[in-house]
Amino acid sequence: MTARRTAILISGRGSNMRALVEAAKAPGFPARIDLVLSNRADAAGLDFAAAEGISTHVLDHKQFRDRHTFDEALHRVLVDHGIELVCLAGFMRLLGGDFVSIWQDRMINIHPSLLPAFKGLHTHERVLEAGVRITGCTVHFVRPEMDAGPIIAQAAVPVAPGDTADTLADRVLAAEHATYPKALAIVASGRFSIEGDRVSTDLPVDPALGLFVP
Ligand code: GAR
Repeated sequence: MTARRTAILISGRGSNMRALVEAAKAPGFPARIDLVLSNRADAAGLDFAAAEGISTHVLDHKQFRDRHTFDEALHRVLVDHGIELVCLAGFMRLLGGDFVSIWQDRMINIHPSLLPAFKGLHTHERVLEAGVRITGCTVHFVRPEMDAGPIIAQAAVPVAPGDTADTLADRVLAAEHATYPKALAIVASGRFSIEGDRVSTDLPVDPALGLFVP
């Protein structure tokens, strides 16, 4: 099977993007990263992608009169690059309903909590305030509501006594880097089905991680 042409959308550091780029180098990985796009020209991740020989593109949302015009331009860039799958990786812009329906079940996102808990920003601060003992990360198909949609993979991360938002964020981020490539592999392999909010796959489960392993 030829690897699916994939774009990664970032707004900043891009560490999840790096994890996906590294994973996609493995022989037989079902996705190839053809484009890294940012809505911010100063996103640090763009330099890494360019150094890897990946096409990069900046679409500064401030240059567009409204969300719809931005989304249309974004869609055109994706089509121009022959993109089949989109990974949001720290892309801090809401996408409109029209764009989301065009890319329905072909666009995935990572969020640093065990969704549906703790959607939105300042996740780790709110996790600590709420006193939960276990948090984690989620990769899900994108739907118009923020941080919502059928869940592909999750990883649990225990909250340690004495954790700050920063120490917790570091451990969750390590889990994100392990989880996102596995989720992308499931989606790119096409070996999944979605019924309502439930995603199934015939791929085997890694009992140690509780994750599907392609
Ligand atoms: C990641 O922790 C990601 O889960 C989060 O932004 C960070 C981006 O880091 N995304 C969200 O909060 C989306 N709601 P990165 O640029 O190093 O991948």
